[in-house]
Amino acid sequence: MSLIPQLNGFSIKNNNWHAEDVSLANIAQEFGTPTYVYSRKALTDAFNAYEAACLRPNGDRRARVHYAMKANSNLAILNVFAKLGAGFDIVSAGELARVLAAGGSPDKVVFSGVGKSKAEMVAALQAGVKCFNLESIPELTRLNEVAGSLGIKARISLRVNPDVDPKTHPYISTGLKGNKFGIAYDDVIATYQAAAKMPFCEIVGIDCHIGSQITEISPYLDALDRVLHLITALNGVGIKIRHLDIGGGLGISYTNETPPAITDFANTLLNHIEAKGYGHLEVLFEPGRSLVGNAGLLLTTIEYLKPGETKNFCIVDAAMNDLMRPAMYEAYHAIVSINDKSASPEVTYDIVGPICESGDWLGRDRPLKVAQGDQLAILSAGAYGFTMSSNYNTRGRAAEVMVDGSTVHLIRERESIESLFANEKILPA
Ligand code: LLP
Repeated sequence: MSLIPQLNGFSIKNNNWHAEDVSLANIAQEFGTPTYVYSRKALTDAFNAYEAACLRPNGDRRARVHYAMKANSNLAILNVFAKLGAGFDIVSAGELARVLAAGGSPDKVVFSGVGKSKAEMVAALQAGVKCFNLESIPELTRLNEVAGSLGIKARISLRVNPDVDPKTHPYISTGLKGNKFGIAYDDVIATYQAAAKMPFCEIVGIDCHIGSQITEISPYLDALDRVLHLITALNGVGIKIRHLDIGGGLGISYTNETPPAITDFANTLLNHIEAKGYGHLEVLFEPGRSLVGNAGLLLTTIEYLKPGETKNFCIVDAAMNDLMRPAMYEAYHAIVSINDKSASPEVTYDIVGPICESGDWLGRDRPLKVAQGDQLAILSAGAYGFTMSSNYNTRGRAAEVMVDGSTVHLIRERESIESLFANEKILPA
C-alpha cells in the first residue's frame, strides 16, 4: 500500500494533482521534467508555525528561527524566508554567499560545521555573522588566529555532543558519542575555559544538534536538560552564556510518521526552558527539513514500463542524481500518479531512474495505475532533494519552480548539457 503524507500546498482537485492553484500537468508541460515544484504557501505556513511559538502575543520574541539552508538553498526559497524575518544556519562560505545574494542579513547567520577552512572563517568574519558554532579546540585556535589577523573579535558558541539517542537513521544522528560532531560532554567546560582565554573569541552561546528526522520530543528534552546543566556549570566558573541554540532535526511525515506539530514542538521546548529557569536566554532553532520537506515534490515522466521476471519496473526520467535519499538512506518517498488513471490496471512497480546503478531507485513495490508517458510526483522532496543532487552520468540537474497561488515562477533553469563540462579542458596537442 502506498501511504501519502498530509500535505499543505499540494492537493488533488478534479482528480488531478495541483500545486496551490496550478495543475502539475501544466507545470510538466511548460517546464518539462524532472522538475522540483515548491509551494510558497507551504513554506510560509511552516515558517509561521515556528513563529507562532517564537513570538509572544504582545510581540516579544522568545526565540528565532535560523533556517538550516543545507536542506534547500535555492535563492528564491532563502528570499521567501528572509522576507519573513528568518535567520540562517550555514555550513560553508558558499551558503553564506547564497544568503547574501538572497537578501538575508549576515547578523542573523550562525555558522555551523565541523571543518571550517581559513578562507571560510575570513569570509564569515568580514560579513559579520552572528556566531560561529565551533566543534573542537583546533577549530577554536584557528578561528582565534584568523580573527586576530583581521583585528575582529569572533562571537562563538560551542557545539555540545550531549550523547543522546535521537532514534533516527544512523547516518543522520549526530549527537551520540560515536558521531564526529560536537565537543564531548565531559570536555565542554574545559573547552569553554580555553575559549575564554582566546583574545579574539567572545563567548556568546552554546549549541547542540542531535540529529535529523526526529519524530519524538523526548530526545530533545534529554539533550536540553544536559545543555541547561552545562549552562549553570559554566556560570559557576564565571562564563556567561547569552544564547542557547537547540539545533534542528524535527521530522516530517513521509508516510505515516506522526512527528509533533511544529508549534507544539517549539512551545514544548521553550516552555521547558522557561520552567527550568532559563527564560532569560535568547533561544535559536535551526530547522531545515520541517520548513521545506513537505513544501516540495519532484515531478517526473515515465519513459518505459518494463515487466521483469520477478519485478515490474517503471523507468522514469528522474534518478538518484536528482533525489539521492532513497539510494543513500533507503528513504521512503510517497509516489503518486498526477492524473486520474483509474482506467489503467493497477500494477506493482519499482520506480527506477535511467542511471547505470542498481541502487538507482526512487520507490519500491508501489502499486500504480499508469501508462508510458504519464507523469508521477515524488512527494516530500523539498528537503535534501535538489541540494544533494549531482551530475552523475552527465545529467543536468532538474529545473526548480515555485508556485504562488496561480502563478508559477521558474526559480532555477534546467542545467544545459554544455554547462556540465564548460569548466573542463583537454590537454594541449
Ligand atoms: N543544524 C545542524 C548543525 C545540522 O547539521 C542540521 C542537519 C540541521 C540543523 C537541520 O536539520 P533538519 O531540521 O533538517 O533535520 N541529508 C539527510 C539529512 C542530513 C541532516 C544534516 N544536518 C537526509 O536527507 O535525510
